[in-house]
Amino acid sequence: MSRPRYYITTPIYYVNDLPHIGHAYTTIACDVMARFKRLDGYDVMFLTGTDEHGQKVETAAGNAGLDPRTFTDQVSRNFRDLLPMLDIGNDDFIRTTEDRHRISVQEVWRRLVARGHIYLGKYAGWYSVRDEAYFADSELVDGQAPTGAPVEWVEEPSYFFDLSKWQEPLLRLYEENPDFIAPRSRRNEVVSFVSGGLRDLSVSRTSFRWGVPVPDDDDHIMYVWLDALTNYITATGFPDTGCERYRQFWPADLHMVGKDIVRFHAVYWPAFLMAADLPVPKRVFAHGWWTNEGQKISKSLGNVIDPLDLVETYGLDQMRYFLMREVPFGNDGDFSQGSMIGRINNDLANDFGNLAQRVLSFVARHGEGRVPDPGPLAPPDLALLEQADCLLDALRKEYANQAFNRALERVWEVVGAANRYVDEQAPWQLRRSDPARMATVLYTLMETVRHLAILMQPVVPGSAGRMLDQLGIAADAREFSSIGADHRLVAGTPLPAPSPVFPRFRTDG
Ligand code: MSP
Repeated sequence: MSRPRYYITTPIYYVNDLPHIGHAYTTIACDVMARFKRLDGYDVMFLTGTDEHGQKVETAAGNAGLDPRTFTDQVSRNFRDLLPMLDIGNDDFIRTTEDRHRISVQEVWRRLVARGHIYLGKYAGWYSVRDEAYFADSELVDGQAPTGAPVEWVEEPSYFFDLSKWQEPLLRLYEENPDFIAPRSRRNEVVSFVSGGLRDLSVSRTSFRWGVPVPDDDDHIMYVWLDALTNYITATGFPDTGCERYRQFWPADLHMVGKDIVRFHAVYWPAFLMAADLPVPKRVFAHGWWTNEGQKISKSLGNVIDPLDLVETYGLDQMRYFLMREVPFGNDGDFSQGSMIGRINNDLANDFGNLAQRVLSFVARHGEGRVPDPGPLAPPDLALLEQADCLLDALRKEYANQAFNRALERVWEVVGAANRYVDEQAPWQLRRSDPARMATVLYTLMETVRHLAILMQPVVPGSAGRMLDQLGIAADAREFSSIGADHRLVAGTPLPAPSPVFPRFRTDG
């Protein structure tokens, strides 16, 4: 039987800049989601990559004294090299400068032309290079783009896409698919934007060269957002719609984006696709933005957070956990050293790490380093095991909504219950009085930790893997299909020597 499929994408990143916490955040969130789905038996395609065309990148290349191709080859590498350092398990990495992509974008263009959705005209209006976006006079705030980016006046021949005709189909799409845009606040924003009426969109420029030429009129370079958004179908093999990957994975299940680029993904992209007679993605989730110790992150303030610095200082899984746990996914979040250390020491070291360590070191010392014999289970044992067994169902619901923080809260409810159970059952007191009961308690705890470690793999893959090693769990018994009573630990299985998985973060040097 073929497995269900799941296709998830990150935005493709502009290469004018070095990767920072914002890029790492989206990519890690997608990785967590992709890992969850893989462990849950899905055939997953997880795509990330770089957005290399447009005026912004052309200018950055010029500033670096390089031609755009040499420049993009160099900087795209920074993004690609970052992935293994963040333990990202993407299946493909797309660059918009690749041939496969040019072919795909030009085919989308031809489809739009063939269906009568593109016409030649003249653009006269504002353009923000930083946002790579057009703005009407009425949208400017104190002479700048709403994002605060400078705008320039552009007047040039341009092809237009008849976006104004797509207002009704888009509103219908949102209406019929209430989960198409999440969270709800973003959905409301988009619906009210589209309800206010749409203007036709300029989709080509003649004043710079770095991009995909318009088929049959190469004085024009395609608008970088039309180019960039198309990456999501390029990677499935488009224009070959007979391609197996295309048939299996398109439409995408989830485009994960930041809140600043939701309009491009939830308005322009589905409109382009509908106009080209192609299926639209199932969902766009817009996450919030991080600040640094309460301040907006910007190069000019010099407070940009390098994700590799965080990895080095706090540890990779610690950072991944923090980013997923600290704020409700979709809201803005503040990075601070204090909150990071709090999460590491309280959640990871004290609650989860200590639970595993207490149990495993006790078994190593007083249980001959083997999985103890469960014997007959008493009501408190059964209650804890049932909580562990049921956790997967709860997590599926939270992950389906990308509620990563709530999923982690659910996990911690079981961590808390297990810690209370240790205190109540006090296995160290049973060692002499009732060794059989001690074995039952330890077995129950090991089973609980097995569940927790399996279910924590998406967020902290390395650490959860080490925990599973210490529980003697084989590599092929770590998927979610091993959750529950049918796959209990086997008494007598020898265990490796335990060592702590989540150390405390010490500030005293
Ligand atoms: N190239 C476009 C996307 C094209 S997708 C077809 C782009 N690239 S970007 O490199 O500027 O931004 C990538 C992502 O980083 C966006 O989703 C943006 O929201 C995110 N972030 C940038 N700064 C951020 C924070 N401070 N915090 C969280 N995410 C942030 O836009």
